[in-house]
Amino acid sequence: MNFQHGIRNMTTLPQTGSDWNNLKAHLRDLKKGDAKWKEGRLPVYVYYYTEELLRISHEAYMEFFNENAMGSTAFPSVAQLEKEVIEMGLDLLGGGPQSGGTFTSGGTESIFLALKSAREWARTEKGIERPKIVMAYSGHVSVDKSAGYLGMETVRTPLRPDRRADIKALEAAIDERTCMLYASAPGYPHGVIDPIEEIGALAKKHRLWLHVDACVGGFLAPFVREIGNPIPPFDLSVPGVTSLSADLHKYGFAAKGASLFLLANAENKKYHRFEFSNWPRGSFLSHTFQGSRAAGPIASAWAVMNALGHEGYCEIARVIMDTKKRLIAGVQKIKGLRVLEPGDLCILMYDSIDPRVDVYAVAEHMGKKGWFVGRSTTPKAIHVVLNPAMTPALDQYLIDLAEAVEHVRSTQEVGNVDHRSY
Ligand SMILES: Cc1ncc(COP(=O)(O)O)c(C=O)c1O
Repeated sequence: MNFQHGIRNMTTLPQTGSDWNNLKAHLRDLKKGDAKWKEGRLPVYVYYYTEELLRISHEAYMEFFNENAMGSTAFPSVAQLEKEVIEMGLDLLGGGPQSGGTFTSGGTESIFLALKSAREWARTEKGIERPKIVMAYSGHVSVDKSAGYLGMETVRTPLRPDRRADIKALEAAIDERTCMLYASAPGYPHGVIDPIEEIGALAKKHRLWLHVDACVGGFLAPFVREIGNPIPPFDLSVPGVTSLSADLHKYGFAAKGASLFLLANAENKKYHRFEFSNWPRGSFLSHTFQGSRAAGPIASAWAVMNALGHEGYCEIARVIMDTKKRLIAGVQKIKGLRVLEPGDLCILMYDSIDPRVDVYAVAEHMGKKGWFVGRSTTPKAIHVVLNPAMTPALDQYLIDLAEAVEHVRSTQEVGNVDHRSY
């Protein structure tokens, strides 16, 4: 099937429609070159547990495939599901009767709403124009992306030697334009949880908005703790925490397009509420960046949360923590490699301690064997975001990794960091 026709080899809308079976075959063909996430070859982007859970997520999504979550009066069912998902999130993440939240399309939208709320709060409460966010160097890139949209500035501060936010450095960066502190639970680059209690105290001392980015940890850390691992306090119950983001489409195992932006005090929802009536169509009210919103991710999140319950999520946490132990032990056995940062939850890094073994070259060699391998720049390392799909693939991964290290040692190849994979 030729989709490449028309001027300058650009794709144009076909004059006549095509048979769906042919189109479907084309879609399936296209996918053949993609990373094999079901086979555990993609330690990033996709979260996969079992076929059964995927089917539940898929079926629930399809039930609400064409509905629009913007229309809560037309679709009270969607509004009800959304309310229940938010309430389950609040219950899990330290919310109280005074707390509230908003269902968003992903971590970036949740963080955007956090920054927007802090900006409006600071304008109203402190008269700050062009406010600043103070955060550790390890904070997620979506903060800078959102700050750009919102006319805000970020200040990134050095980390402690254990790669967590350094309180003294954060405090030193606070000035009269600072409106917000941002902390990670855990940070994406190193997988460690910042000292949220200390940062909460700092936020209170300087009367700042504190956002905890638990996009990765929100639906994993509570269960890792529940199965007996020490996880420091990080959620809405920590004094000084104003808001928290937790992604359902990561370790919540919902379909893509699902995250929660939660507020310790629901009154603060006013800072991300948009109300407008000066146009011909009357009043408009919205709490999200999006206008029309997919209802499928809400239904998927609701179904997956109810299908798993605490027990199901604890089982996933067990699988992830066991897989991490096996991966760490396996990497440590490979001559020339070292586990640089085991992380607190599901993210870890390993690097090379042999000058003849370039870790990016190892990543490239693994790529040739069909493994998608994430690369970090600071420090130079291989970056793994664990998910249960990797568990059955782990033995083969370690065999291929040992072979890749030997190959690079003997050829002394030097690899590149792949800027697209973060
Ligand atoms: C800590 C953290 N925050 C925010 C985000 C952004 O989430 P999303 O990609 O869902 O927009 C990510 C994504 O990996 C993340 O790891």
